[in-house]
Amino acid sequence: MPTVSTIPASDVDLYTEQARTDPYPIYDELRELGPVVHLTRDDLYALPRYDEVRAALMDWKTFTSARGVFVDPELNRQLEGITLCSDPPDHTMMRSVLGRPLRQDRMREIAPRIESEAERIVTELVDRGRFDAATELAEHLPMAVVSDLVGLPDRGRLKMLEWAAAIWNVQGPANERFAASMPAVDEFMAFATQEAVPGNIDPNGWAAHLYQAADRGEMPHDKCPVMMLDYVTPSLDTTILAITNTIRLFADHPDQWDLLRADRSLIPHAINESLRIESPVPQFSRVLTEDHEVGGVALPAGTRVALLYGAANRDHRQYPDPARFDITRKPSDHLAFGRGEHVCVGMHLARLEMTALLERLADRVRRFEIVESTPMINNGLRGLERLEVSVTRA
Ligand code: HEM
Repeated sequence: MPTVSTIPASDVDLYTEQARTDPYPIYDELRELGPVVHLTRDDLYALPRYDEVRAALMDWKTFTSARGVFVDPELNRQLEGITLCSDPPDHTMMRSVLGRPLRQDRMREIAPRIESEAERIVTELVDRGRFDAATELAEHLPMAVVSDLVGLPDRGRLKMLEWAAAIWNVQGPANERFAASMPAVDEFMAFATQEAVPGNIDPNGWAAHLYQAADRGEMPHDKCPVMMLDYVTPSLDTTILAITNTIRLFADHPDQWDLLRADRSLIPHAINESLRIESPVPQFSRVLTEDHEVGGVALPAGTRVALLYGAANRDHRQYPDPARFDITRKPSDHLAFGRGEHVCVGMHLARLEMTALLERLADRVRRFEIVESTPMINNGLRGLERLEVSVTRA
């Protein structure tokens, strides 16, 4: 059986501008090298294929999150104990509190607001004929509705996107982007501890609901500031990127847009296919709690493995012709939301926002044409920062 000493190695840098813009040739190479590849720059053992990533996600006892899920060893140490970086039973306690307003059945309460905002923004932009699908379309629902639901004081609402981008940047290795983002991360932590406290936050918002749960004894009070991270970091950019990617894919594949317009029952599958082929969160990591065999390779306890969701979602072993955008594929088993204990707790909200926009766009747009686009260069996220499109009205 191959052991650590015989595992293929690669000195590829997944964090260059080129790799953040187009990681797919690197992912192809890593998948070909084997089920486990040693990434020597950051001393991570990457799992680039579907089966191994999924198996790791489903086995939290062997693949712990409690030693951090990022790249930089120091950051992993500092963030031990946040929701994302914890295991049951602590994780179960925090997740059950923070996930309450995000449960599927709670989406009914916010759906009317999301749908009417979607209607308003789509009508306005399509009437204009040309717009930035990232900053004007995709940002609208997260910024207008989601940031309001979190209920931070105004200064926090205005800064949420900037803070979130910085927090995502420090999820990579300690490169320049990481260093440049540290002041904003510190600013957020100070805000979460000192300003986003009862009295300053909307008493009906998600942030206040954390404190109310702590008052009822459902979790310790000192977890509240750090759990703001769970609402601030992943609730905006992830969805913004997913919406922008989806528009880009439909602009490049007008035949698929025609299919969706002719059959709206394809919308959920189109959302899954977009997330599969362009995963906004390309990776997280785990640490082995015991010696373990991964894809026939023996790895020792303590090994940090990188779960490459973006590569696994394009594994031809799982998805034939994986680079083809095909909304009839129905890939509900994709890993863009993770799986298992830490599966994205906001996925119902993300799907609700994406569905609302696609429904209205399908009514009003016959064709999207890309005018120009700019990639987002961030250590933890992937997608487009700008996507100028012109539309032909239906
Ligand atoms: C298309 C949009 C989104 C994508 C692609 C996405 C992706 C992910 C992924 C891959 C994970 C798994 C982390 C792991 O494996 O360790 C995750 C977890 C999480 N997501 Fe999302 N997410 C999205 C939207 C949202 C939204 C709208 C929220 C709202 C607050 C959210 C909140 C969270 C939280 C709190 C976790 C941590 C869950 C836990 O540790 O148990 N996400 N997300």
